[in-house]
Amino acid sequence: SAANARRNETRNIAQRLDELGKDVVIFWGSQSGTAEGFAYRLARELHQRFHLEAMAADLSDFDPETIALIPDAKIAIFILSTYGEGDPSDNATGFWEWLTKLHDRSLDSLRYAAFGLGNSEYRHYNRVVDVVDEALELCGAKRLKPPGKANDAKGSTQEDFLSWKDELFAFFRSDLGFQEHEVKYEPTLSVVEDDSLQPADLHIGEPVHSADKSAKATPTSSIGALKIKNSRELFTASSRNCVHLELDLAGHPQITYKTGDHLAIWPMNPDDDVERLIRTLGLDRHRGVPICIKGLDQGTKVRVPTPTTVEVLFRYYVEICGPVSRDTVRGLVQFAPTPSARTFLLDLSRDKNTFTEFLRRTHVNLGRLLELATGADVNTVWSIPLSYIIETLPHTQPRYYSISSSSILSPRAPTITALVSNTALPDESTASIPGLTTNYLLALSHSLADSDSPAHPQGLSYNLPGPSDALAGGKVFAHIRRSKFKLPMQSSCPIIMVAAGTGLAPFRAFIEERVRLQSIGRPLGEMILFFGCRRPDEDYIYREELEQMEKGLQGKLRIVTAFSRVHGENKVYVQDRVFEHGRDICRMVGEGANLYICGRASMAREVRKRVEEVMGTDNGWDEEEVKEWTESMKRKNKWQEDVWG
Ligand code: 2AM
Repeated sequence: SAANARRNETRNIAQRLDELGKDVVIFWGSQSGTAEGFAYRLARELHQRFHLEAMAADLSDFDPETIALIPDAKIAIFILSTYGEGDPSDNATGFWEWLTKLHDRSLDSLRYAAFGLGNSEYRHYNRVVDVVDEALELCGAKRLKPPGKANDAKGSTQEDFLSWKDELFAFFRSDLGFQEHEVKYEPTLSVVEDDSLQPADLHIGEPVHSADKSAKATPTSSIGALKIKNSRELFTASSRNCVHLELDLAGHPQITYKTGDHLAIWPMNPDDDVERLIRTLGLDRHRGVPICIKGLDQGTKVRVPTPTTVEVLFRYYVEICGPVSRDTVRGLVQFAPTPSARTFLLDLSRDKNTFTEFLRRTHVNLGRLLELATGADVNTVWSIPLSYIIETLPHTQPRYYSISSSSILSPRAPTITALVSNTALPDESTASIPGLTTNYLLALSHSLADSDSPAHPQGLSYNLPGPSDALAGGKVFAHIRRSKFKLPMQSSCPIIMVAAGTGLAPFRAFIEERVRLQSIGRPLGEMILFFGCRRPDEDYIYREELEQMEKGLQGKLRIVTAFSRVHGENKVYVQDRVFEHGRDICRMVGEGANLYICGRASMAREVRKRVEEVMGTDNGWDEEEVKEWTESMKRKNKWQEDVWG
């Protein structure tokens, strides 16, 4: 990538390891940051436990063919996520291509281990790590141990990584003969206060695509502080509500979108959590002091914007609201301010099941954990180095929303449709887990003068900026991410759309766009929309406009609904309707229809099964033939999914 060139660094990993005197390289392929976080954590721990020199490496920072030059005295570890249709992360695409061109014995000197992150709700569970592992081994690389896997569908990603890491360490001890030392915290970052810095020098919350990220071939726009033009609440029901937000691209000529793309929102942490963490760490008097963060050795990258302040760091740049992992709890033991706090953390983190159950009940985040451990004694302060906090907490990642407007109708005003979700917890003492980004969006929409959104009882409080801040006037940091979820080029091509809940978003845009195309005289293909929600009078979003479009299109659009909570015990889901309308689906497919699915992965999987079932029956295909048909539909982009976990 251009990043190394800018920094004048080599793209030869073997040379880089040599220059930095590193024994182990941990390559990561990550989109949402989890695998990246694991790589950095593992690098630190290998150093602390085994005094090995280890570095985390972005796969896109190095020429993949130089992996073959890593000598057998060193070790390579791969931590790789699988996305969508079994695809690697954007930063691993170069590496992925290289793998396919490998030949026999070309990796004779490489010693490696691998760990994959995936979700078994998706068809190609952990495909990336499996393919990589097989390819490396086939080409002569020495596999140290079978690949480990994390399954996000079970919510056990953290624990899966922890188990694999423990096994890896055992292997390092027994098979590789490395001596294990007592783990003592050693910072990899220095964090220094610097009063000489002026406010204008500081990062105040604006996200920074790291140098590497901007250099990657990621199909994303630059980040802008976008004004929220309009907001309205689509429905409000007990613990759920749904907001429709319209953003303004005026003044951001470099940001454009196309129907079907995603809008990425960079969230802000709520006041309560920011204050709790500042308080428990005893940083109140330091909150606004400029800090500079630097890597302590050349191989360590600083992954948060610097210089900044503690308050900005906690509000914008690290994820302080997410649940802590058992690994983190273990790591905190060394900083316990009292014997009872130490015992609390030890008891909590000893056993996997105890911890999992505790987390299920409380969803505890770092600030609340520290409070719990000291019995919320306000006089007990945790002296945890800031470097530790920055190293341990995940770094804020944007959240993606399918755009619900058509770029033909509203080229400069994309809209999103966000369900504000507050997940109920079994433990009554903790109300619920508020959805981080969606509550932030809700608060923002309430802050707009012309908002017709009623106040929401569960609303969290946010430090919405004053007039001089980058976000003044109801703005949000956001960018566009290109997607392949697109209408057919030909307006006459029939389309089948299947959605549940807010999965409706891109289809609203599709239908809007086709209404426009018809109005300018283009021939329209037949459309059928399957939409599922709970009840017609509760969460049937965009109902009026959809029904109006259906009427206006005079038979070109059919809407088939599935209401899951009006038939008593019998839930009716979209996949049931898809099955009932099997004949229509087969006929439309026969006429060249594209098929689109948008919504949760579990729904998409069921829909897929039903579609395959009706196609198989209709054509008299066996299982093999059905799979072949699906794959060919996908290859031709006639089957497209926009799905989340
Ligand atoms: P439920 O909540 O009543 O189970 C939008 O959330 C709609 O999707 C709701 O009607 C919801 O039903 C439904 N839904 C939940 N799980 C689903 C699944 N696995 N397949 C299809 N629809 C599902």
